[in-house]
Amino acid sequence: MDPTCFIRPNVAAMTGYVPGEQPAPTRNLIKLNTNENPQEPPPRVKKALEEAMDISCRRYPDPSATAVRELACRVYGHRLTPEQVIVGNGSDDLLTMIMRTFIDPGELVVAPGPTYSLYEALTRLQGGNYRDIPWNEGGGLPVAALVTSGAKVILVVRPNAPTGHVVDLEDVARLCREFRGIVVLDEAYVDFAEEHGLGLLHNHPNLIIIRTFSKSMAMAALRIGLGFMDPRLAMAFHKVRDSYNINAISQLAARAALEHHADYQPLWQAIKEQRHRLTKALRHRRFTVPDSQANFILAQVPTPGPDATWWLAQLKERGIYVRYFPNDPRLSNKLRITIGQPSEIDQLLAAIDQLATTRQTTG
Ligand SMILES: Cc1ncc(COP(=O)(O)O)c(C=O)c1O
Repeated sequence: MDPTCFIRPNVAAMTGYVPGEQPAPTRNLIKLNTNENPQEPPPRVKKALEEAMDISCRRYPDPSATAVRELACRVYGHRLTPEQVIVGNGSDDLLTMIMRTFIDPGELVVAPGPTYSLYEALTRLQGGNYRDIPWNEGGGLPVAALVTSGAKVILVVRPNAPTGHVVDLEDVARLCREFRGIVVLDEAYVDFAEEHGLGLLHNHPNLIIIRTFSKSMAMAALRIGLGFMDPRLAMAFHKVRDSYNINAISQLAARAALEHHADYQPLWQAIKEQRHRLTKALRHRRFTVPDSQANFILAQVPTPGPDATWWLAQLKERGIYVRYFPNDPRLSNKLRITIGQPSEIDQLLAAIDQLATTRQTTG
């Protein structure tokens, strides 16, 4: 018997999401491919984490992460109440909850693209259809096309991945007002940006905002995400999520990160400064680099010259991992580079210079 005949047809037909490569950590590895924070959490958070390792692990954790939700309201303000907050096992878990809650087979999910490619995989798992509608020229939100798309759920990433650009919050508000469906604002990278959308929640009950502790909070390994929404939607999320979706250590870590939220400011400032430096340095080397408000940049490699796959392979040979997206022609000659430590950026630029010189002398 071939057991694969029992797999649901949409699962059999779909291509699974391929996460960025996670090479085994070695001393000389420069990992700029998955937008992690190059810095460890601030000392007070690190200390709380070390203490968390000492807990008794016999008992189940709080199933609804109450303390995390209460603290999140205190930190993020905007009259948020714990009934409006859901904690996810990473924001990917919140995205799964969104699809489980809203998408029946055959229903449509739309996002302005290019954007985070997990959205399509999660939609297909539900048997839904997925379409991306290109950003306007210059990166604006294509509000009219989104409103008339026939979608039930629209996802907007702000700052967007992998481009790093931001759309006007006023356009997000207009989308919420004009679209008869759910709008998800994915703020995975918002702590590196100038402004956020939490203020929109109050007047727009169809808006869900999701955040992650994987990037700005330097906790990708602990899998923590937050979702903010109308309390009636949150009640549905509690039904569809796994009962104990946040383990006890991650709950303690999330609480520590929120309690010492202000300690993160210098880390974010450092990343913004390095983003500015890398953008300028790459432009100087004939890469085309749009302004980014995230902890990464999307760099188009110089033309004429070798294509992005050549740069990708050459950098990897030198222990420098950056991200390339082979399946989207709009990203064909571009590399997404996470903002690393200053010394990592130095090494990246040195490698680029060396590659350019070698090519000139051999070509
Ligand atoms: C736009 C966007 N949303 C969500 C996520 C998921 O983050 P996590 O599941 O680690 O919280 C990512 C991760 O790369 C992302 O780029």
